[in-house]
Amino acid sequence: MSLKKLSAEAAAALINNGDNIGFSGFTHAGCPKAVPRALAKRAEQEHVAGREFKVGMFTGASTGDSIDGALARACAVKFRTPYQTTGDMRAAINAEQVPYFDVHLSTLAQDLRYGFYGAVDVAIIEACDVTESGEIVPTAGVGISPTVCALARTVIVELNAAHPRELRGMHDLTQLQDPPHRQDTGIVGVRDRIGKDHIKVDPSKIVVVEVNEPNEGSGFAPVDDVTRKIGENVARFFVAEMKAGRIPTSFLPIQSGVGNIANAVLAALAESKDIPDLEVYTEVIQDAVIDMLESGRVKFASGSSLTVSNPTMDRIYANLPFFKERVMLRPTEFSNNPEIVRRLGIIAMNTALEADIFGNVNSTNVMGSKIMNGVGGSGDFTRAAYLSIFLTPSTAKGGKISAFVPMVSHTDHTEHDVKVIISEYGVADLRGLSPRQRAEAIIKNCVHPDYRSALQAYLDSGAKGHTPVNLDTAFSFHRAFISTGDMANAEVKS
Ligand code: COA
Repeated sequence: MSLKKLSAEAAAALINNGDNIGFSGFTHAGCPKAVPRALAKRAEQEHVAGREFKVGMFTGASTGDSIDGALARACAVKFRTPYQTTGDMRAAINAEQVPYFDVHLSTLAQDLRYGFYGAVDVAIIEACDVTESGEIVPTAGVGISPTVCALARTVIVELNAAHPRELRGMHDLTQLQDPPHRQDTGIVGVRDRIGKDHIKVDPSKIVVVEVNEPNEGSGFAPVDDVTRKIGENVARFFVAEMKAGRIPTSFLPIQSGVGNIANAVLAALAESKDIPDLEVYTEVIQDAVIDMLESGRVKFASGSSLTVSNPTMDRIYANLPFFKERVMLRPTEFSNNPEIVRRLGIIAMNTALEADIFGNVNSTNVMGSKIMNGVGGSGDFTRAAYLSIFLTPSTAKGGKISAFVPMVSHTDHTEHDVKVIISEYGVADLRGLSPRQRAEAIIKNCVHPDYRSALQAYLDSGAKGHTPVNLDTAFSFHRAFISTGDMANAEVKS
């Protein structure tokens, strides 16, 4: 039997109003493009004809514009989970046009198998290869692909010629068993391989759409003065921890979060001569890790995606045998698995939007109410980490927002999980400190000088007890920004 081949439009026509779709990929890497764009067009046509057409969306993490952007603009989204970063999707969520629920990335695949969010009707999977026997080889990102392929009634494979078939072998593909039969994952080292190099699907469920399109990734912002200083502070902290015997001299695997700051910190670690060559166990492998693999500063990288710019992707494909020996791409339920994170002793570094002086961290909601991206994998790693670190520039928006506030306007990571906070000014090592001591360490070491006296005044404003919160002025910084456009106008005393 040969696999059914269709155009993107004909494949999109297999999707019904109300269907829930599972997309391959993780960030823009590994995401399908042509079929979701055709689906968005179809939704627009249905709407013009006066008919309802919306789908539910399950993804590995964020996606490219062809998924989140196109479907949001077409008003074609019934619900969306988990992480997203596209401007149009973010706007639709914040306008409450798209119901969005934000879950830890490691849990989505199992939640789908448990049936928590309804059926997965259709999977749309980008692949570099698909065989007549139903072996699907993903491209640069895995995410929830094995699970949605297993659950969906129809698996639409976008066979993308921009990704070489020889990628086969870079992936480690399997699924967790569900309780009460969960197995030991078998991953006791960063390089351990426990699965197959393909996802096996009943070929009668497969429809193939042939395309040739590059990833939709953009590059990273160049390292600037602030991000360079954050990186240097991280490197200095690690060297001191090694000297103190709290990080072994052979080091521990590192996880580094998404975005410009994480990328800049990795670049700083690469430059530090006192930090040994590293292993990476993370969710997104960004450009800086590729540079470090090439220079030998990273010995091996395990992740769920190659979230790199297109020129870096070209470099990887030009030297594929080298990278296949040093990179492994896994489903997110393994790349982000807290059980594995704790076992491997991972040092987790993620970026905060804001932190409060007691060490609670907001990674997701600006001024408490507007979603930025989502919690992503930051919680998967933070709570289970050997050492959990949050990084942030001390201010945002030209200094009008302090990243350190009396009380976070939304909590993703609690004081119980956050061990160290690092800004361009220094390191607040919160281990073993009481809330008041934590506040003193953060104000002294991390806060921008323009905001130190206001935060100290808040701390001294008379609140008593284990956690000296003043409920009258806890949100004074946020209220000042909302009403005057500048947190510097905050009245911290009641
Ligand atoms: N209030 C309002 N806006 C803020 C802010 C604050 N306290 N702190 C940062 N921002 C804005 C910045 O101004 C910037 O806006 P712009 O895009 O308009 O320039 C934007 O947030 C991104 O900040 P930036 O400083 O460039 O950092 P980043 O690219 O590293 O992203 C997060 C930071 C927090 C948004 C990002 O790391 C994230 O989404 N994290 C949550 C998920 C996660 O940690 N995943 C990793 C797990 S492996």
